[in-house]
Amino acid sequence: MLLGATGFAGGHAAARLAEVAPDGLRWAVAGRRAAAVEALAKRHGCGAVVADVGDPSSLAGLAESARVVLSTAGPFATLGPPVVEACVASQTHYADLTGEVPFMREIIDRHHLRAKEQGTAILPAAGFDSVPAEVAVWTAMQEARRRGVRLESARTVYRLRGGLNGGTLASAIGILEHGDRKLLADPFSLAPDSALVGEERLALGDPARPVFDPTGGRYVAPFFMGAINRRVVRRMIELARVGKAPAVPAVLCDGLGPWFRYDEFQAVSKGRGWLAAWGMTALLGAGAGLLSTGVGRRLAKRFGPAPGEGPSEEVLRQGLTRGVTTCFVEDGENFVVRQEMQGDPGNTATVRILVEVGLALAAGEAKGGGVLTPVSALGERLVERLKATGGHSIEVQG
Ligand SMILES: NC(=O)c1ccc[n+]([C@@H]2O[C@H](COP(=O)([O-])OP(=O)(O)OC[C@H]3O[C@@H](n4cnc5c(N)ncnc54)[C@H](OP(=O)(O)O)[C@@H]3O)[C@@H](O)[C@H]2O)c1
Repeated sequence: MLLGATGFAGGHAAARLAEVAPDGLRWAVAGRRAAAVEALAKRHGCGAVVADVGDPSSLAGLAESARVVLSTAGPFATLGPPVVEACVASQTHYADLTGEVPFMREIIDRHHLRAKEQGTAILPAAGFDSVPAEVAVWTAMQEARRRGVRLESARTVYRLRGGLNGGTLASAIGILEHGDRKLLADPFSLAPDSALVGEERLALGDPARPVFDPTGGRYVAPFFMGAINRRVVRRMIELARVGKAPAVPAVLCDGLGPWFRYDEFQAVSKGRGWLAAWGMTALLGAGAGLLSTGVGRRLAKRFGPAPGEGPSEEVLRQGLTRGVTTCFVEDGENFVVRQEMQGDPGNTATVRILVEVGLALAAGEAKGGGVLTPVSALGERLVERLKATGGHSIEVQG
């Protein structure tokens, strides 16, 4: 069941499902506007369900009639909670495209224990936020174990080509308007109880300045989605360390303490790029500063893409993401995990990932329930599925 199918990312997810759904899989598009939902269903030859997030009985019907709900109906801070509640109540697996940390914290607190007991997988952040980050660290953990070395830290540098959705801008504005600043600043905000407190915890805060990347031989700037991805990765690792990530055995985290550091950066130039990296960092800081004011948010709403809008077909097609994760080891040679994702990161790559998570859930591949992360619930099956799409390569080098 694909909720939010009438939106920008949802429309692409519906098209992707129509292309790759295995024979015999029954699926449907869902949304609040009956005519639009029915037109989509007709185009893709699937079912149609009319449901409004503001109407609990329509959501209950939607969740009860499905084995898996995929939601692209965001901003999730406002539209997500009732959908997750309906899915937990009817023991229906769920995955979405959120990158909103306060929403993820809310559903962990409200639903993790019950979903775990029932074996219902609730998987937020099943798109470009934050599956490539999880896949990079999961692959690094596997490789470190195979080599018999201890991972000290890992750092992904992205090179991206793509556009921005109105829905993503609306979600970012929502977080800045209503998000709890303390929760947003805490690098452990999505982790279960951790051994780290106070100073040590804050020492693992988000990078705020450029660093020199030895693998690319250039300075790189902090990645604007890094704060989200770092927290999701932290949840996966901390769940695994205490034996509570159903698809990631605790043994993979041997020697990987809570002080393990995972950071994300973006490449901004081809040369050494000290100035460009500082320029990008200053620009991002200024952008975040502006969006944290009422005037800045009004300007973004006025001049940015509106909900329902997104990049052109050409940008979607020509988009590309390269993620190079350098894995620093304590007692051996460093190595690198390389990922390449074809198409616009926020749409083409994102819906490719979401649909594979959905198909894995429908095929019963989740190893357990709870409000988990996609990799902690699906592990190797998800990595294999992504590789098999042909649009997402994952390799270890060095
Ligand atoms: N993780 C990632 O990498 C990633 C990438 C892209 C997007 N996203 C996130 O995905 C979300 C959607 O993005 P988008 O660009 O597709 O946004 P969008 O075009 O604005 O789509 C939002 C969808 O939610 C639906 N909706 C709104 N209110 C509803 C209600 N009361 N009941 C049922 N459905 C309702 C809309 O229906 P109508 O058509 O009827 O308005 C539409 O289908 C955003 O939160 C964005 O941040 C994440």
